[in-house]
Amino acid sequence: MSNITIAIDGHSSCGKSTLAKDLARALDYVYVDSGAMYRAVTLFFLENEVDPIDAPAVDKALDAIDIRFEKMDGQNHTFLNGENVEEEIRKMYISDYVSPVAAIPNVRRALVQQQRDLGKDGGIVMDGRDIGTVVFPDAELKIFLTADLDIRTRRRFEELMQKNIPSDLALVKQNLLERDHIDSTRSDSPLKKAEDAVVIDNSRLNREDQLKKVYLLAKERILKTTA
Ligand code: DC
Repeated sequence: MSNITIAIDGHSSCGKSTLAKDLARALDYVYVDSGAMYRAVTLFFLENEVDPIDAPAVDKALDAIDIRFEKMDGQNHTFLNGENVEEEIRKMYISDYVSPVAAIPNVRRALVQQQRDLGKDGGIVMDGRDIGTVVFPDAELKIFLTADLDIRTRRRFEELMQKNIPSDLALVKQNLLERDHIDSTRSDSPLKKAEDAVVIDNSRLNREDQLKKVYLLAKERILKTTA
């Protein structure tokens, strides 16, 4: 059976990573959370006071950043220069700062290169904003996930509550709106649907139904590439 590449893109907090993880598990594929990489770079910039508009400082910082993923107890953990930062990068102050950092062309260039290396053998599900358009334009299956803003806000709020991260519904909504705006309007690889992506609005789909839908699509594409 062939190992295909699956790209899942979409707006903030519409359940991309849940779907991508479920699908990777069902297919026994590797899952890569590209957003975690932008979050890790953002954490490094904040901790080291890197000014995003100081190009030489940005390049120096990028050379000093090593991002890796490790699976522990069935969960993916993000490591920044050897330190487990999985919990820290999910916090609101990172969400508030990540989109401007992700809009810096040299940051994108460095991370896209690493993402391509991670996916060079196929058998991968990667989620993000530009996976089907820029990172893997030849991916055999591209999904563009969307959901109503209020539903996304509620989901994100509940996720933060579950992680005991203090938040406020109105602030969460504002953050989603701002990130969607910056992510969709930046000049370098903005979030947009790839022409050949399958659009799924999961506002009224449960986790199992969503997985069934994409699993069938994936199996269909796998059969097509083996034929
Ligand atoms: O998926 P996420 O919310 O963890 O992503 C965090 C931010 O990183 C998001 O606001 C936009 C950016 N991002 C990006 O620009 N390109 C990607 N492939 C993934 C994330």
